[in-house]
Amino acid sequence: MKHEMQLTPDPFAMIKDGTKTIELRLYDEKRRKIQIGDSIVFTNTETKETMEVYVTDLFVFDSFASLYRELPLLECGYTEKDIDTASPDDMDMYYSKEKQQQYGVVGIKIEKPDHFRTNYENWYAGDDFYWGTEPAGFCDELIALCPPSKEKKVLDIGCGEGKDAVYMAQKGYSVSAFDLTENGIRKTIRLAKERGVGIHAYVDDINTFETDEQFDIVYSTGTIQYLFDENKKAFFDKIDRITKKGGFVFFNVFVEKPFLELPPDWDKEEKMWKSGELFSYFPNWKFHRIDEVIFEDDSNGILHYHCMDTIICEKME
Ligand SMILES: C[S@@+](CC[C@H](N)C(=O)[O-])C[C@H]1O[C@@H](n2cnc3c(N)ncnc32)[C@H](O)[C@@H]1O
Repeated sequence: MKHEMQLTPDPFAMIKDGTKTIELRLYDEKRRKIQIGDSIVFTNTETKETMEVYVTDLFVFDSFASLYRELPLLECGYTEKDIDTASPDDMDMYYSKEKQQQYGVVGIKIEKPDHFRTNYENWYAGDDFYWGTEPAGFCDELIALCPPSKEKKVLDIGCGEGKDAVYMAQKGYSVSAFDLTENGIRKTIRLAKERGVGIHAYVDDINTFETDEQFDIVYSTGTIQYLFDENKKAFFDKIDRITKKGGFVFFNVFVEKPFLELPPDWDKEEKMWKSGELFSYFPNWKFHRIDEVIFEDDSNGILHYHCMDTIICEKME
C-alpha cells in the first residue's frame, strides 16, 4: 500500500541524503494503516518535490517521552549540533499533548529504494507473503509432464518468497531455488520449515548465477525480464547445459505491446521483451506449451494489465 505525507524542507533533505531514517508521527487512524513493506511518498511542502521510501520497521510507543528514551535520535532528524537539547516537547508544535495521549506515537523506519536493486526486497520485508503461499498452476502442468521423485532435481530461478519451490519440494522433488532478495530467501526457508520440507534456497543473481548441477526441471516465473540484454544468450546457453536430456523448462516473461502501458510497479532493472522472443531461444526443443496472454493484475493495489509469453518445452538431444 502507498501512503502520502507532507514534509518541511529540512527533514525532507535529511531523508533524501540518508541522515534521517526514522520518521516520527502521531499513531492515529491514518498511521495505523501503515505496514512494514508499504511505501510512503513524501512531498516537500515548499518545492513540491516528491520522494518515495519504503517502511522497513515500525516502533510504537505510548508517548514521545518513551520514544525519545528508546530510539536513536540522530536517526530521527536530530544532528550532532542539536542532539544535546533534544526533548520530547519538541514534538508539541506538531501534535498537541492531548492527541499524543489519545493515540500514542510511532517511529517509522524508512529506507530509500535506490538502496536495493529491486523493490521486491522491500515488498517481501513484512511477515505476510506478498504473492501468497498458493503455488502457481504451472507447477501442476510440470508435475504432469515430469512426475516427481527424490532423484529428480528442480531449479526455481527468481523464486520470490518460495511458494512454487516449496510446493515442488512437498511433491517430492529435490529443489534448489534462488532469488536476488534476502527477504525472499529468508521467507522461502521459513515456508519450507513450516511445511516440513528441505530445500536449497540461496541469494543469487539471474545474470551471473553458476551451477555444476543438471536439473530435470528448470523453472522461472515472472523473473527473466530482469536479465540484462547482453546476458540473454549466455543465460539460455547455460539453461541448455544445466537441463538434463529429457528434462523440461518452464519460462514466462512480460512482453511489450503498443496498446498496453508500462505497469505501475515496474522495477528499475526490468525490461520488456519482444513478443515471441522467448520462443526463439528453444528452436531444437519439443514445445509442450507456447502461448501469449493478456491478464489483469492488482497485486500492488492498482489495477493494470500485463502481456505474457509462456513456454514449456522438453530437451530432446
Ligand atoms: C514477479 S516476482 C516473481 C517471484 C516468484 N517467481 C513468484 O512467482 O512468486 C520477480 C522476482 O524476481 C526477483 N529478481 C529481481 N531481479 C533479480 C535478479 N537479478 N536475479 C534473481 N532474481 C531477481 C525479484 O526479487 C522477485 O522475487
